[in-house]
Order: sequence, then C-alpha cells, then structure tokens
Amino acid sequence: MKKVITYGTFDLFHIGHYNILKRAKEYGDYLIVGVTGENYDVERGKLSVQDSLSKRIENVKKTRFADLIIVEEYLGQKISDIVKYNIDVFVIGSDWKGKFDHLNKYCDVVYLERTKDISSTQLRQQYLN
Ligand code: CTP
Repeated sequence: MKKVITYGTFDLFHIGHYNILKRAKEYGDYLIVGVTGENYDVERGKLSVQDSLSKRIENVKKTRFADLIIVEEYLGQKISDIVKYNIDVFVIGSDWKGKFDHLNKYCDVVYLERTKDISSTQLRQQYLN
C-alpha cells in the first residue's frame, strides 16, 4: 500500500486546499493529513489563524480524502511522522518548492502547483475587513 502525507493549516478552508488534498490522495492508496496545532502556528509566527484546530480538522475530514488526520505540533515532526507511518510520498504545494528536499532521504517529495488566486491570507483579509 502506497502511503502519502501532506501538511497545512487549512484556515478558512478553500478550493486550493480541496484541490491539493484530492491530488495528494491520487498519489497513493492512503492519505495522512497533518493539520497544524494552534501553538505550533503561533511559534512559527502565524498569528492570525481564524478557525480553531477542531474546525480546521472537521473541514479536512469533510473532503473525505484523508484516511488519517494528525496534528502537527513541533518543528521536526515531519521526519518522525514519515518514519513512524512508513510514508512513500510527501506532497506539498509549490510555494514550498525546494524547502523540503531534505525529506528525500526518507521518501519521495512532490511539490504540486498551487491553485491560482486563492489563499487563506487573502480570505483572512476579506474576513477581517
Ligand atoms: N495550497 C494550494 N493552493 C492554494 C493555497 C494553498 O495548493 N491556492 C496548498 C499549500 O501549498 C499547502 C496546503 O494547501 O500545501 C495548505 O496550505 P495552507 O498554508 O494551509 O494554505 P494557504 O492558503 O497557503 O494559507 P496562507 O495564506 O496562510 O499561507
């Protein structure tokens, strides 16, 4: 069984999130989605996330692409998850191109083109205005 993992905050869930989860699932038979924990987002400077962790998890769950949803809580967790879950493919959007090449030691690393003209940042700006 080919196992795929991807990560994100998935704040104000949008079509770009849906598309990457759908495409990530197509890379294998079993998809694990890591959703960032609230403390981890604050630690890495992402301070304006609107949705609670439980809402972001619920939105990922609703797509039905994830076979397992986990919470990403610390820097360096990705390697532990890849080893722990015996992952074959790590998928992430092209905004991260090159940033996860070091994971190549553990599994294939695939950068997928982002869906154009949509982001949580953009939606947060609309939401806050
Ligand atoms: N993503 C995508 N297309 C978009 C937006 C996001 O493919 N238009 C992907 C990202 O590349 C990442 C995943 O969705 O692999 C989760 O991204 P996340 O950071 O939660 O969403 P963004 O909309 O990029 O959020 P922000 O604006 O806060 O960076």
